[in-house]
This record gives sequence, structure tokens and C-alpha cells, in this order.
Amino acid sequence: MESRIKNPGLAEKGKLTLEWAERLMPVTLGLRKEYDAAKPLNGIRIGAVLHVTKETGVLIRTLKTLGANVYLAGSNPLSTQDDIAAALYSEGINICAWRGQTSSEYFGCIEEVVLSEPDIVIDDGADLHAMLHGKHMEMAAKVIGGTEETTTGVIRLKALEKEGKLMYPVIAVNNAYTKHLFDNRYGTGQSTVDGVLRSTNVLIAGKKIVVAGYGWVGRGIAMRMRGMGGNVIVTEVDPIRALEAVMDGYTVMSIHKAVEIGDIFITATGDKDVISYEDVLKMKNGAILANAGHFNVEIDVETLEAKASSKRVIRENLTEYTLESGKKIYLLAEGRLVNLVAAEGHPSEVMDMSFANQALAAIYLTRNRGKLERKVYNPPLEIDREIASRKLVSMGIEIDTLTEEQTKYLSSWK
Ligand code: NAD
Ligand code: ADE
Repeated sequence: MESRIKNPGLAEKGKLTLEWAERLMPVTLGLRKEYDAAKPLNGIRIGAVLHVTKETGVLIRTLKTLGANVYLAGSNPLSTQDDIAAALYSEGINICAWRGQTSSEYFGCIEEVVLSEPDIVIDDGADLHAMLHGKHMEMAAKVIGGTEETTTGVIRLKALEKEGKLMYPVIAVNNAYTKHLFDNRYGTGQSTVDGVLRSTNVLIAGKKIVVAGYGWVGRGIAMRMRGMGGNVIVTEVDPIRALEAVMDGYTVMSIHKAVEIGDIFITATGDKDVISYEDVLKMKNGAILANAGHFNVEIDVETLEAKASSKRVIRENLTEYTLESGKKIYLLAEGRLVNLVAAEGHPSEVMDMSFANQALAAIYLTRNRGKLERKVYNPPLEIDREIASRKLVSMGIEIDTLTEEQTKYLSSWK
């Protein structure tokens, strides 16, 4: 694979940032110590498509310590941190990623990863898995197994499995408790607020913040926006989740009503067309739109682009659209993941658990080569609990253990 990055001169800056992230990722770093001698990934080629952030850098260095040869591409055209890409490149990682890729450059880099003939594939959003099940099926036959980092990717892989087309076993890392309960909720909650503030620096207090979707991501965003004084309105399609939002104290209404009163809109559904152009037309002058879901399909940016009478970039990640009516609408980060494009993604402390799951899943797939079916598996619960225990230890928190009598009591019908 021919490495391609933006600026190798940023390597020293990237290395310092990686050093900072490593201080905050004790669980992932602990795996380096634990497996350094055994090198369970010796000779394994890992193809990874992940947001190239400082935390991903820590994972990639860890996989390398465990013996793997890593081939890396970014998992969004705008999320690569160029200093981290430069640092990894300087350390001999095969990498094809830079911030500001066109769509064909983005898929070109994923193709480079596919053509490196990976044994294990690590993906975030399933574009790599999709290429292995479409254009390059001949490469999929060689894959021992894969992992998937996010909800949208897991949905796509389950659809492949349902159609009987999945070509290798996949571990749905997203489904680990130590992943989605923390990364999707607290990670996206904080980093989405961060993205909105870095791009606009508006006051949250007193604003009406509309959060579309009350899944793990949506509830994290709602919680943190409320914490800063926002009046949060939730929209949902699932009655159980809508009810949860009501009882968590939020105002719940349909998106078609919410568009008339919201100041800031954040989509977090994994669904398409959540905010249509007709919805945008009903918004207040000055409304701000952002997306935290995996793909840029939640807000109909295409129609906004086509129908707006003019467009100006006000500052980085903040674009103003003037509608025919003269109304102005502000879109953050081009409607792509606002927390990764306008900020740095989740803080290292939560990625510590997500990426410990990824490294352990890669070891698990390698050790169980040939023994797993072509299915989407949830991560083994023992691994999940082990990661939680290690995280607690790293935070200096002790918990209690069941006595023998308690264990007996809790498993008895009497
Ligand atoms: P989830 O399945 O827990 O929640 C999604 C919620 O959206 C569900 O409750 C669903 O009912 C609701 N929904 C679906 N269509 C809707 C619509 N049209 N209007 C209103 N609500 C609707 O998923 P999640 O884990 O919260 O993930 C949501 C998205 O965020 C996915 O695309 C996921 O891949 C992505 N994600 C992003 C980040 C990030 O860093 N930005 C991190 C984790 C996950
Ligand atoms: N997804 C969300 N935040 C991330 C981060 N900091 N690194 C990699 N992937 C992410």
C-alpha cells in the first residue's frame, strides 16, 4: 500500500498529542504490557478504517506492539487529524488519510486497505466491510474476521447476515456495554457540545435545543445540553424511547412541530431524511443545524445546497445558507459528524474502553480462526466485564464482591 497523508512535517506535533492521549488510556496501554511478550497478533495483517484521531493512534500503536502489520484509512472525509496521520506515518504505519478528502479519494484509500489483503478488518461505519462484500469479494474470502465500531455499521452488517451474504465472522464492538454505554452516550454527548461550541461559540443557556433520536447518542447529547442550560426538545419514532425521554424530563414532540421553535437542531438517529428541506423552510431565521449520526444523510443538505439562493462560509465548520425568503440557516461541519469534524471526537478516556474492546476482539478473532460462523457476534461478556474492572482500577475505584452465600442466594428460586 502506498501511504498518502497531507503533511509529514506535522509528525512531531502528532507524537506529542499521542503522548497526551496515552496518559488517558490506561486500559488500552495495559494491553501492550500484558501482550508484549506473547505478541498474539504476530504476522497478522490488520486493515483498519477508523477516524484518524489521537485515540485511534494509540490503538494502532497498540496493535503494532501486539505484532500486527496495520493498514489504515480514515472513516470520514473530514475527520482525519493530519498531525496524527503524520506521526503514524513516521512510525512506519501504512496510512492513507487526510482531512478534506473528496468522495473518490475517501473510497480510494479504503480500496488501498482492501488491496493490502488484510487478515482482520476493523471498521467504523462498514464502508470497508461493504467494499469487501461488493467490489472486492475476492479479498473477503481471505479475511479471518472483522469488527465494527458503530451502530450504523452493525445495522449494515446485520442486514448482510440476514441476506446470508456475510463472508466472515464479525464482532460488533459497538454492542459491548463498555462501548456504547460510555462512548455513544458520554463521548458523543461531550464532544458534540464541543463541536457546536468550537464552530459557533453561541450560548447554550436558554436556547431551545432539538435532539432527533433518543438512543445512546441522543440521550448523551440531550443530557449535556441540558447541563449547560439548554431547553431540550426530543423527537423520536420509537414510542418506548420517546416515553423514556418524557420521563427523563424532556419535552417530546414531532420534528414537524419542533422545527418551528428550535434554535439548534442536532440529529443522532442513524436514519436518513430526518430533517427535510420542507422542515428547514419552517425554521426560525438563524437556526443552527448539526448532525452527530454516522452518515451525512440525516439532514437534507443536498436540497439545501440546490435551493438556497446563496451560501457563505462564515468561519471554519460554519456555513450560512440564505433561503429565497431571505431567512438565514447555519449548517455545521457540512452536516457530517459534528463532534469529529468541528471538534476532536470523543475524549481519550472513553475511547480507552472502545479501543481496548477493538484490540481484544482482534486477538479473539485470531485465536478462534476457523471456529466462528459467518455471523455478527456480540463481544464476549467476560471481555466486557474485564475492561470495566480494569477501567475502575485505573480510576482508583474499588467495588464489592459477592460472598459465596450471596452467590448461592442470587441463583436460588427459594
Ligand atoms: P440507537 O439505535 O441507540 O438510537 C437511534 C435512535 O434514533 C433510536 O431510538 C431510533 O428510534 C431513533 N430514530 C430513528 N429514526 C428516527 C427519526 N426519523 N426521527 C427521530 N428518531 C429516529 O443508535 P445510537 O447508538 O444512538 O447511534 C445513533 C447514530 O450515531 C448512528 O449513526 C451511530 O453510528 C452514530 N454514532 C456516532 C458517534 C459519533 O462519534 N458521532 C458515536 C457513536 C455512534
Ligand atoms: N469516534 C468518536 N470519537 C472518536 C475518537 N476520538 N477517535 C476515533 N473514533 C472516534
